[in-house]
Amino acid sequence: MTVYRLAYLSRPTPGITAEDIRAIAASAGRNNPGLAVTGMLIHEFNRFIQLLEGPLDAIEALMKAIIADRRHTDIRIFLRQSAPEGTLSRWVMWSDFDRIPMSRREMELREEIVRAALESLAELDAERWHGLSSNPG
Ligand SMILES: Cc1cc2nc3c(=O)[nH]c(=O)nc-3n(C[C@H](O)[C@H](O)[C@H](O)COP(=O)(O)O)c2cc1C
Repeated sequence: MTVYRLAYLSRPTPGITAEDIRAIAASAGRNNPGLAVTGMLIHEFNRFIQLLEGPLDAIEALMKAIIADRRHTDIRIFLRQSAPEGTLSRWVMWSDFDRIPMSRREMELREEIVRAALESLAELDAERWHGLSSNPG
């Protein structure tokens, strides 16, 4: 089954607590399975990185709610693609507050997503520098 994949990074609202993070994880755990959405939410180094996989309409509806959520800001979508199948069989949350056991495959995927997110930030930086140098004054 073709799945739609979307990944973004964002900045947790200052003062966010372990309780807030657990509430987000609880929402995801409650809603995502019914939407046939799997994925991973990574909370570390003062940022969120989330990968969502599932039917396009479900991902779009979910993203609408997530973008409107005041518990984070500066949302930057860095990946949108469709794939022949999902890479995860469950919903996974990895937080500075709660580090759940992950399979080897999930750890590899986590590395991949974090790397892609950081590359996208590096690109953003490069664009800014380019903007500065080509626009003196
Ligand atoms: C970083 C971040 C990731 C989130 N991820 C999900 C998610 O995967 N699934 C979900 O249902 N809600 C997620 N939420 C919460 C939604 O924004 C929203 O609060 C929730 O879907 C409302 O549903 P509820 O009333 O069942 O809690 C996330 C929020 C944040 C800040």
